[in-house]
Amino acid sequence: MNPPPIDLKQYIREIPDFPKPGILFYDISSLLKHPDGWQLATARMTSVVCQWNPTLIAGIESRGFLTAAPLATRLGCGMLMLRKPGKLPGKTISHSYNLEYGSDSLHIQHDAITPNQRIVVVDDLLATGGTLQAAVTLLKKAGADVVGCAVMVELMALNGRKALETEVVSLLQYD
Ligand code: PRP
Ligand code: MG
Repeated sequence: MNPPPIDLKQYIREIPDFPKPGILFYDISSLLKHPDGWQLATARMTSVVCQWNPTLIAGIESRGFLTAAPLATRLGCGMLMLRKPGKLPGKTISHSYNLEYGSDSLHIQHDAITPNQRIVVVDDLLATGGTLQAAVTLLKKAGADVVGCAVMVELMALNGRKALETEVVSLLQYD
């Protein structure tokens, strides 16, 4: 008989009142430092993302880098960094977006997008969807073909996927 499937949620810590009172923070640090858990999470993400046959994985700074880089390696794709302001050398293309309090922006290098790339955007977590949609908007503004989005954790109550104009898959869902 096959062993029961491993529940990855056991490796994700839930930390109340971070970064603000009333917010429950889903901490992937404990998943990252567990070798079996992280291997499994990466393997499962890979098998989901391969459906889109991507050629480039775009990771969103900062926790999205951790999630995107192993996928790119496993899938034999390149990786593109979507960075926060002031981090990339040379000319950049940017997109600003609103957060719950204030605003932020994402940037890519002006020559990051080339023809015939199939791009999947990856982040650790989908909450309101503002960050992921900003990434998709920026990439499309630069002429990219975004074929899908993937996250490890989705906070269902915030209904972030409704804000997205691109298909998104998540590995773990929380109410
Ligand atoms: C967190 C998380 C996602 C985003 C999700 O990033 O890693 O990128 O928020 O929230 P949203 O769906 O409401 O936009 P954060 O900006 O806290 O920074 P970090 O990744 O650098 O830790
Ligand atoms: Mg983030």
